[in-house]
Parts: sequence; C-alpha cells; structure tokens
Amino acid sequence: MFKPKSIAVIGASKKPGKIGYEIMDNIISYGFNGELYPINLRETEILGKKVYRSISDVPGEVDFAIISIPAKYVLDVFEECGKKGVKCVALITSGFGEVGDFETEHKLVEIAEKYNMPFIGPNIFGIVYAPSRLNASFGPADVKPGKLAFITQSGALGIALMGWTITNKIGLSSIISIGNKAQIGESELLENFLKDDPNTKALLLYIEGLHDGRRSMEVFREVGLKKPIIALKSGRSKRGALAAASHTGSLAGSDKVYSAAFEQVGVLRAIDASEAFDWARCITNNPRPKGKNVVIITNGGGVGVMATDACDDYNLELYNDQEKLKELFFKPEIMPPFGSTKNPVDITGGGGELAYKKAMEAAFAAPEIDAIVVLYCQTATTNPDLLADYIIEVVKKYKKAKPFVIASIGGVAVDEMVDKLNENDIPAYDLPEKAISSLSALYRWSNFVERTTKLGKPNGLKLPLDKIKAIIAKVRKEGRVQMLEHEAKEIFKLCNLHVPNYGLAKTKDKAINIAQKVGFPVVMKIVSEDIIHKSDAGGVFIGIKDLSEVEQTFDKIIENAKAYNPKANIRGVIISHMEPKATEVIIGVTRDPTFGPTVMFGLGGIYVEILKDVVFRVAPFSLEEAQHMIDGIKTRDMLYGARGQKPANIDDLKHAIYVISQLVSQVDDIKELDINPMFAMEDKASVVDARITLTKQK
Ligand code: COA
Repeated sequence: MFKPKSIAVIGASKKPGKIGYEIMDNIISYGFNGELYPINLRETEILGKKVYRSISDVPGEVDFAIISIPAKYVLDVFEECGKKGVKCVALITSGFGEVGDFETEHKLVEIAEKYNMPFIGPNIFGIVYAPSRLNASFGPADVKPGKLAFITQSGALGIALMGWTITNKIGLSSIISIGNKAQIGESELLENFLKDDPNTKALLLYIEGLHDGRRSMEVFREVGLKKPIIALKSGRSKRGALAAASHTGSLAGSDKVYSAAFEQVGVLRAIDASEAFDWARCITNNPRPKGKNVVIITNGGGVGVMATDACDDYNLELYNDQEKLKELFFKPEIMPPFGSTKNPVDITGGGGELAYKKAMEAAFAAPEIDAIVVLYCQTATTNPDLLADYIIEVVKKYKKAKPFVIASIGGVAVDEMVDKLNENDIPAYDLPEKAISSLSALYRWSNFVERTTKLGKPNGLKLPLDKIKAIIAKVRKEGRVQMLEHEAKEIFKLCNLHVPNYGLAKTKDKAINIAQKVGFPVVMKIVSEDIIHKSDAGGVFIGIKDLSEVEQTFDKIIENAKAYNPKANIRGVIISHMEPKATEVIIGVTRDPTFGPTVMFGLGGIYVEILKDVVFRVAPFSLEEAQHMIDGIKTRDMLYGARGQKPANIDDLKHAIYVISQLVSQVDDIKELDINPMFAMEDKASVVDARITLTKQK
C-alpha cells in the first residue's frame, strides 16, 4: 500500500471535480513513477493513461487498487480484485457501516481475508506516502514531505488538516485515512508498518473511537517506546461523544478513561488540532533530550517571564547553575554589561543577530544544557530574516544534538521568519507558551520512555483466585449479582487488604460475642440483599461503645428493617470494629465499553461528589502507576499531611489501589466495585465500607 509498483484506480474519471478524477490527478502530479491503470466503463484514455474496462483486463500485476465507485457495485468489484490477485485496496466509497450497513462491510472483510488482500476503509479519502511520492487521495496535492505520519478517522476534517499542514509548513511522511476501519485501523498500521518505517519519526492520530481499547493500548505502548504518539481525540463532551459514535459508527468510551489510557501508555493527548500540530512540529524535528536542564535565550524580559511561567505550568526545569550560566553567556559578544545570565538569559533589546548566534552556539556546546528555547521579540536592531539564517546555520552545525524550539513575536517579517524556520524543519512558533508546551510534550514522551523501559511490563499479582471464585459462586448460586458487605469484605481480606475485624450475627447473643471479639467502638449494619440503602432503612449505627448498646441496637436494626421492607430476607447484622476518624478516599471500578475494567481513585465525600477530583487508570497496572494516581489528584496534599495533619500511609494506599487493579482484571465476574470509604490512616489503608456487583449470569 505504501510502496506499490502498480496502481489501479477503479472508478477513474475524466471529469475534473469528480473523486475518481482527483485521485488520478494527485497520483500523477505528486510524481508516482510506477504503473497506473485507470478503470472506467466507457472512457479510453484518462489523463494520458490507457483505460481498462475492468481490473481483470489489466495486463500486468496490480499491487494496489483504489476503489471509487458507488457502494452497490463494490462487493462484485472487490471479488474481482481478489481473483485478479490485487495485493491491497483502499476503498474510498461511503455508505457502509457508518450508515448502518455492517453486513456488507463484514462481507468485504471476508472477501479480503479469502484473497489475503488487506484493505483500508471504507469511507476514506485515501493515503499519501511522501517517500514513494504516492498521493492516492482526493485531498490537496502538494503535501510537504517530512517525518510525521498522520492517521485520521475523520475524512473531511482530515483533508482540511492536510491543507493546514501545507500552509503551516508541517512535513508529513504519510497521511492515512482509515474511515470505518473495517479491517485496518490505527493499531494495524502502527504495528505492521509505521513502527519500523525509517521515514516516520512520530505519529499523530485523529481518533473518534477505538474498537478494541486494550489491544490499542498494547500497540501504542510498544510503538510509543520507539516513536512519540500524539492523539487528538474528539468527543470530549457527552454530546460530542454521541456525535462521534454516530459519525463513524464507533463506540466512544468514556472520555476520561481515554485520557487515562493514553497517559498510561505514553500517548500525548492534545486538546485541539493546533496544539497537536504544535507538538508534532517539535517532536518530529528534535532528538530525545538527554537531561532536564532547559535554557531560555531572549531579547525581552517580559517574554522571558511569560516563558518562565509556562515552564512552571508544564513542569520544565530551567537550568539554574548561576556560575556556569555566567561563564557561558556573560560575554561582550553576547550581551551588554546590563544583560542578565539568570536563566532566561537576556541578551537585551539591543542584542542583534550575532549575539543570538553566539548565545545559541554557547548553549549547544555546553554539556550542562539539555534543551534550548530561543525567544525573539521583533526590534529595529535585528533583521528577522538574517536571524532565521543564523538559527538554521547553528542548528545544522550542531546536527540537532539537543532539542531546540523558538518563539518569535512581531509583525509580518516575523511571520515570514517563522515560516522559513519551519520550512527548514526547525520548530518555530508565534508565542512562547506554544514553544514551551511543545517542548514539554517532548519531555513527557521522553519521561514515559525512561520510566517504562526501567519498569518493564506490570507483573501479575498472585491472588487466591480459587477462594475468591468460590465466594462468587455461592452468590451466583443464590441468583444474586449484588454481593453483601461481608462477602465483599471477605474477598478484600483474601487480597490482603486491611479490613477492620467484623462478624455476621444472626442473633443478639452472637452480636455480643462478635462485638467483644472485634473490639469497641463498633459499627452495626443490617445485612439483606433486599435493603440496598441501609441508612434509609435505619439499618446503620455507628460509635457503639458497650455491650448493652449492642443489645439494644441489634433489636432496633431488625425492627427498622422489618418495618422498611417486611418481605426482606434479613441475614443478620454485621458488626465491625470502628476505625478512628481519618481522611476518606474512594477506590471504584467500572467496566468501560472500550477499555474494560478501569479503576478510579480520589478523596471521598465532597471531593468526589462536588469537585470530581478523581483519576482513572485502565487495569491492571503497576504499583508505580498507583503512585501516579495518588499524585494525580488535586487534593493529594491532604494525604501527604497538609496543615499539620498526620500523613497517611501512602505505601499501603498505593498497594490497595494496585491490588484492586489486579483483582478486577483477573476476575471477570466483577462488574463494579466500590471501596467507599477507605480510611487513609497514618498506619494503614482500611476498607471501611465496600460493595461489589457481579456481571449478569452468563
Ligand atoms: N468499474 C469501472 N468504472 C466504474 C464502475 C465499475 N464497476 N462503476 C462506475 N464506474 C465509473 C463511472 O462510470 C464513473 O465514471 P465517469 O465519471 O466517467 O462517469 C466513475 O466510475 C464513478 O462512478 P459514479 O457512478 O459517477 O460515482 P461518483 O463518482 O458520483 O461516486 C463515489 C462514487 C465512490 C465517489 C461515491 O459513491 C461516494 O462514496 N462518495 C463519498 C466518498 C467519500 O466521501 N469518502 C470519504 C471521504 S472522507
């Protein structure tokens, strides 16, 4: 598909403006130098090429067929392509899965498999692969060759962005429209071609939904270790997700889970197209940084401060060895005596092109400096065009040995300077924040590679699955999907989580006995599958301090439960030791339609309900990932001992989150799970209340 020697365009047309014409025209004008066979029912010649009536009439082999004929003829033509031995197909035609015709789409996949003839589409605008001078699309003709592969699920937007890359001087190795992804989606393209394609350095994916989130995560993780992946995922809002689902017929998983999954596997999620391409510019044209020391060279104090703020926002570290900075930059050819070497290095408004050149050379040559940001405010003392030439010269001289970005602020001459730099594959922006955000994206990817290479794949935790499944089997036998509190707690105990001592009492005598064993104060709660909202039924009492209170409470709970629901099957009262007050956290699990079991973590109470300060991760994950979750909530300081509070036992807490991720990925029966609250105590993380819902009986 990417390196064909011969191409057939089925549905080629002589009429400009028709898709079958534009594809032919693009293939020819972009410089494809293999055989090109237009297929049309009536014409004899199209754009100087001899026309064939059908694919079977083509005399030679056909590596790649592009089909652009109405949907109703496609099945027959597909079959004919298979018989002819066509090696692969791009199916431009719309009118299949996206309008509900999955049946024909399945048939296409069957034919493709029968003849071992992979295809992209349907419902696509084609593909471009610059190294082969192949533009088999009906998008713009003059794509700028570069090192970024752009895969897009959306058609029209993809074509529009293709045009945008040309205007904005973004070089592309390939553009691949995947449309309905009937057989080949982004994962297949990454795994089978782009991962090892020497002409592709980074990837940008426009995604509306993934068919198989887990498999995609595996592929993204593997490819992401070699090449950075940027994702632009639409459908962030609930309405947007609905539109996306109907657009290409794909299931849009909950958007927060998408973000979490991307973060877990190092995919950089951009908020919009302009951010995505800003990042892509930096990532494709820079090496991985060797260290964290960033230096900013500027001719303006104000813009330097803006960039410094942005570094703070994006967690970039400014090199701070003042002695060394002085040694490197406090030179008459770089700055006047009133210049500043406190990073940002301010060569001052009078600093000309040569001062910039010397400063950049000093930064490139210094082993202490790992990444360079140049800021330029247009002044009458500099010539932006000449400065661009110097920048190109220096960056070339140092062979892009370290990441380099520039932001130039000013008028038309500066716009031209930015264009010139980008044409020369030097990432240039019109605002400092864009330059810093883009550099930080490169750092985030680099950190992911470092972290992941060090850690390897998360190990599976050995859990007593037989015992856990036996408890579940008992619940299932009674025809229930809702586990009772003591059953859920039994499972957590088996997973070695700390659960305050408890027991189930059917009688008052037993209640007294249990209370003595678990230790006062105790909590007493009704246990009945028919009473889900225990508090509403008057079935929860806390802070019970002695035996006589236990006796009275037992009677009261049973009485309340019977009054609340006379038909309820009352199994008894659970009596648990009551933990002292502590910071409450919540660990929850849902099964996301795209990614499967997903763990949520956050502080309990108002923090989860009002502030929605929670983080998600797709299970299973490592202990380190659990630590990232804890550090990912805004209210994390409450756990680390803010305002004189005692810090919680973070090790125990992260262990609990990690164990839950392992449990739910090893036990398919668990549909949803909530530990709410878990007490994040000084000495331990304790499961105070818990609920588990099983999947429906298979
Ligand atoms: N073999 C060879 N040629 C055939 C053929 C066949 N079986 N069936 C039709 N043709 C020829 C037609 O004669 C026509 O040539 P002409 O211009 O010389 O008359 C050409 O192929 C195209 O067929 P036509 O019936 O004119 O269709 P069209 O060009 O109006 O529409 C599609 C065809 C594929 C473009 C259209 O059905 C479609 O799906 N459009 C949407 C595409 C899209 O948006 N994709 C997603 C992008 S994001």
